[in-house]
Amino acid sequence: MEQIRLDISRVYDFISPDEIKNMAGETSKAQETLYNGTGEGKDFLGWLHLPSEITDRQLDQIEEAAEALKGKTDLLVVVGIGGSYLGARAVNDALAHNFSHLKKEQKHPHMLFAGHNIGEDYMHELLELLEEYSYSVVVISKSGTTTEPAIAFRILKEHLEKKVGKEESRERIIAVTDSSKGALRQLAGDEGYRSFVIPDNVGGRFSVFTPVGLIPLSICGVDIRQLVNGAREMNRICGPDTPFEENPAALYAATRNALYRSGKKIEILVNYQNKLHYVSEWWKQLYGESEGKEGLGIFPASVDNSSDLHSMGQYIQEGERLLFETVISVENSDHQLAIPGDRANLDQLNYLAGKNIDHVNKMAELGTILAHLDGGVPNIRISVPRIDAFYLGQLLYFFENACGISGYMLGINPFNQPGVEAYKKNMFALLEKPGFEEETARIKSRL
Ligand code: PA5
Repeated sequence: MEQIRLDISRVYDFISPDEIKNMAGETSKAQETLYNGTGEGKDFLGWLHLPSEITDRQLDQIEEAAEALKGKTDLLVVVGIGGSYLGARAVNDALAHNFSHLKKEQKHPHMLFAGHNIGEDYMHELLELLEEYSYSVVVISKSGTTTEPAIAFRILKEHLEKKVGKEESRERIIAVTDSSKGALRQLAGDEGYRSFVIPDNVGGRFSVFTPVGLIPLSICGVDIRQLVNGAREMNRICGPDTPFEENPAALYAATRNALYRSGKKIEILVNYQNKLHYVSEWWKQLYGESEGKEGLGIFPASVDNSSDLHSMGQYIQEGERLLFETVISVENSDHQLAIPGDRANLDQLNYLAGKNIDHVNKMAELGTILAHLDGGVPNIRISVPRIDAFYLGQLLYFFENACGISGYMLGINPFNQPGVEAYKKNMFALLEKPGFEEETARIKSRL
């Protein structure tokens, strides 16, 4: 069976193969901490074996719920923020037609998002659009109290109830939340919404293979069984029984930590397929929220090439030398399109006539990797046979597994996010939320 592959040979000018090999012991120690559940954050390891633990019955239930909505749903509004929305968006955008929102014939509901920002115009324009379409809502919040999605859901609930009536609106809303706690769990019970559970031991950014990702993706036509199968395959390959040199998650974790220690503080995830933009956004949250703490951590950044070669390319080639790149290289495109010949050849492109566009893309990728290496930017390459649900499942699980190992190598707890609370506290104080009186007085004295 084909699989995604990791190539670290283009870091060897910066970190020797022996240096990487010498990290095997340290890496397997971090891996043991992860697999034995002996490290900090051990209560949040439910994601580790999740792909193999999802049962057919659970997948059936998700698909049944999705089927019940599909017929009456042109637009699906996914309400959530951070880990409660990025996984679905990453997979959906990677697999959907580039122009699916404008196609006259829609095979599946189109996925839209709310509650991931607090833009008033965004919300107003979304409601304007929803007037014109038949829509359903999946509201996702583990805590059930996150301000952004709670505001969006309050507005959407009212809108949908007015539009289709209270009874029908209940048929069109699915809640994904904690099994017993939180405002959304209570609301789902009170209103009689169909609901699914985010397991207690799975944090938001590791939740794409739970109903958080699977419910919206299934409604929008993604083959969630293939997605899960891909993750299962990677779960098997990345396990502690696979030797260090053959274990992509262990090697990636070791290599990026070696680069970090050598002064490469920023990792840029690079794609040459714009459909992967939100895979990078998902990856940035996964690594940023897991590793950026205690004054430590690689800063995760991303570019979409070749677009960004015409903007960020200059910095990457010649700016401060604290970068390394991880390139997601997609081996095969789904469609072939050759460059036509032209008698006048004013654009001087006839030397490419008959060549596929993807060939040019591949040469841009290779040329850029070599130029950046010459410019002092080490390169890790992840090759993906093609963009489909199976390989995306592999890719996302690979990144999750490596993140757990990498975080323990860094010496932090990869499964908490204490820093996220600081802005919330200030925002609640400024909004004069009941219970925040002292913080309100303190913050006002600073203004
Ligand atoms: O990864 C995380 O834990 C966060 O990004 C959360 O998913 C995000 O803050 C949303 O939280 P909740 O699902 O509780 O609304």
